[in-house]
This record gives sequence, C-alpha cells and structure tokens, in this order.
Amino acid sequence: MPALVLLGAQWGDEGKGKATDLLGGSVDYVVRYQGGNNAGHTVVVGDQKYALHLLPSGILSPGCTPVIGNGVVVDPSVLFSELSGLNERGVDTSKLLISGNAHIITPYNVTVDKVTERFLGKRKIGTTGRGIGPTYADKINRVGIRVQDLYDESILTQKVEAALDAKNQMLTKLYNRRAIATGQVVEELLGYADKLAPYVADTVLVLNQALDDDKVVLFEGGQGTLLDIDHGTYPFVTSSNPTAGGACTGAGVGPTKISRVIGILKAYTTRVGAGPFPTELFDEDGEALRRIGGERGVTTGRDRRCGWFDAVIARYATRVNGLTDFFLTKLDVLTGWEQIPVCVAYEIDGKRVEELPYSQSDFHHAKPVYEMLPGWSEDISKAKTFAELPKNAQAYVKALEEMSGAPISAIGVGPGRDETIEINSFL
Ligand code: GDP
Ligand code: IMO
Ligand code: MG
Repeated sequence: MPALVLLGAQWGDEGKGKATDLLGGSVDYVVRYQGGNNAGHTVVVGDQKYALHLLPSGILSPGCTPVIGNGVVVDPSVLFSELSGLNERGVDTSKLLISGNAHIITPYNVTVDKVTERFLGKRKIGTTGRGIGPTYADKINRVGIRVQDLYDESILTQKVEAALDAKNQMLTKLYNRRAIATGQVVEELLGYADKLAPYVADTVLVLNQALDDDKVVLFEGGQGTLLDIDHGTYPFVTSSNPTAGGACTGAGVGPTKISRVIGILKAYTTRVGAGPFPTELFDEDGEALRRIGGERGVTTGRDRRCGWFDAVIARYATRVNGLTDFFLTKLDVLTGWEQIPVCVAYEIDGKRVEELPYSQSDFHHAKPVYEMLPGWSEDISKAKTFAELPKNAQAYVKALEEMSGAPISAIGVGPGRDETIEINSFL
C-alpha cells in the first residue's frame, strides 16, 4: 500500500536529497522516475557530504533498494563514476536496480545538447549540458537507445545508425561539426554492457510485487514542478515530468497505488538557468540568500538566482501534483531578517491575480504582490519541535501553510539528517 512520491514544488534544488535520505532509513525502495544526471542532490550525513546526480538518494541507506526507473535517462559513464565514488567511501551499491527500458544518454546526445544551446545564443535555456533534452527527444522520436539494447549488438548497431543518420546531417551541415561514426559509439556502449548487467532488472515487476507485499516505496523526483515539460515555465524547463504523474509513467506503477505526495518547498525561492522568476531579487537580499543558503548548483556550479517565497507557485504545485504534504526546507536561512516579504499574488497589467496564469506572456509580466511577515533573530538550527521555534518563525510557517494549500509536515532547520522538525509522520 504505502507508495510515496517526493518531488520538488518549485524550480528544483528544494532539498529533495536531504528529505529522501531522511526517509530512506524507513523505506524499502527509493526510485528515481525521471530526469538523469542533470539533478544534483546533496545529502549530509554526520560530517560526510554526498552529491548525487543519477543515483537515488536512498542509496545511502543500507536497508533500502535504490531503483532507476524506465523514465530516467542514464549516462553509463556518469553512473559508473558515481558508483565508484560511493564505493571508495564505503557505501555498498550492490542492491541498485536499473530498468532495461531506461534510455541511454549517448555521447552524441551530449554533443547535440551543447551545440544547440550554443546555437540558441541569447535565447538559450541554460541546460546542464548533460544531454538530457536530446535523449528524451530521441525517445519520443523513437530513435532512442535503451539499456536492453546493449545486449544485442546487431540491434544496437541498427539503432545507433538510425539515430546518427539525421544527427550527422545536422551536425555537419548546420552546426559545422564533425560527423560521429556509428562504430565508435557502438563500441563505447558495448563496453558498458557487462558491467551494467548485474543491475538490469524488470523494475516494473519488482516494484509492483513489492507494493503487493506491503513494502514501502518512495519515488524521488528530480528537478521541480515549474521545470516540468508540461506544467512548468515552458520552454525554460527540463524535458521530462517531475510532477507526480511522472512517477506512474516513469516507474510503471498505477496512480491508485500512490498514497502520499510530498512537495519539497524551500522557505524562499531559487532557480538555475534561464526563464521567468517573478520574485527574483537583484539586490543585497538576493545576495544574502545566496550566501547564507549556499545557493550554488551541485551539478554545474552555477550561482542560483534567489528570491522571496512565492505562494502562487506553491498553490500551483499543490494543485498539479495533488500534494498531501509539504516538507519546508531551509527555514534557518531566513534567520536574521527583521521582516520577510512573501509573494501572495501577482499584479499583471494592473490586475491582481491569485493563481498562476496559463499564459506565458502574463507570467513574464507578473509582478509580485508582497505581504510582510515579521522575522526572528534566534538560532533555530537546534530546534527539534515546532514549539521550540520562535513565535515569529512559527507564524511564518503557519502563514505559508495557509497560503500553499497543504499541511507542512516537516521543517528543515539545517542541512543534516537530524536538523529536521517532524510534525506529522510521513509513514
Ligand atoms: P535537491 O536538488 O532538491 O536535492 O537540493 P540540492 O541538494 O541541490 O540543494 C539543497 C541544498 O540545501 C543542499 O546543499 C542541502 O544540503 C541544503 N539543505 C537542505 N535542507 C536544508 C535545510 O533545511 N537548511 C539548510 N541550511 N540547508 C539545507
Ligand atoms: P535537481 O534535481 C535545478 C534546469 C537547468 C535548465 C533546465 C533544463 O537538483 O533539483 P536540462 O539539462 O534538464 O535540459 O536543463 O532545467 N535544471 C535544474 N535546475 N535543479 C535541477 O535538478 C535541475 N535540472 C535541470 O538549469 O534551466
Ligand atoms: Mg539540486
């Protein structure tokens, strides 16, 4: 019965890695269902800090089986370097399962990602350059390479040839790059086959059987709601569905199995890459949030754009994901502000708008309408219960909860596993 989805409620980097790791000790499976190594999930255990990209954060919990679902795109070279990095630090990764239907990020997908971004110039998306979009494009165009293709050389060769036919035309004629040879790609991919084999499984069957046996399965989203290809700020999005429905398609589990959908919500807002961001700050407050919050990309090292909390976005995330709970993170970062502005609505062409407009032109023009909430100056990083928080911090949380449309069931007051206030249990 207990299948939980944990996903980003904003533009990613909300603290999903920490939240997943926290629950990892009590769940049987942690499943990535979309995205790939564009994700950067930080987990802090004691004095150890881990940066995970492709692997589910549950890999750090010994009792838990980590799963890479069919909806994920897998770069084998990244996979093996991440695995060996963890093994060197004493983490056992032998339980990992990878769907045979997951698509492979090939070297030419990475090349295409980089050249198309360069070609877009000022209009670029600001992708992570990891080949994510082109790999999903190949999947939808039905010229993708799947993990299972590595086990049939003849099929693999035909598929790589088919994928490269059009790409080489594009690379040589449009982008002035050298053509990529089929044989070279096939050879590289076949080189991964034996090493990958012990992990490859029918993950759909495994997960459904686990749920039938009453095991606890946690689906860990990459990215965030506003980066969703359907529900995000298109075209400034990633090429998959981080929203709750993505867990069903990306893992092969029916929606009737999912009992809880937890939105990870930062107490302020950040975004990496291009695209609209109504509450973005360009002043000292933005700098302070970046500095205090350590807001620098785990994957690309880019500075994150920072702004105040946006309740319109939080309400939208509640709606499109059917959120049952929020996990509010990084409340500690807001300590020290006398007053904290919170965006409660937008003003668009002189009109007050309470909900996220579907029109991109409207969203690009949206100006935040702020309400000022009183701040606090006490250190909250040692607080273990809601009652231990200063009154103004309690009021801030309660106000966000009311505006956002789902209960806040946990609060992060620091990056560590134990720096969390649990209000309602997730399990
Ligand atoms: P993810 O991509 O959603 O997993 O988030 P990232 O790991 O990219 O970014 C979140 C950052 O915030 C990481 O450096 C975490 O260690 C850190 N973090 C998570 N929760 C908290 C919290 O409650 N307080 C503080 N100060 N840091 C946190
Ligand atoms: P986690 O899981 C924040 C952003 C990129 C870019 C856009 C498209 O750590 O929250 P892509 O390479 O996916 O085609 O880039 O999406 N992006 C993220 N931003 N956190 C992430 O992951 C992201 N993954 C992709 O910056 O704007
Ligand atoms: Mg991240």
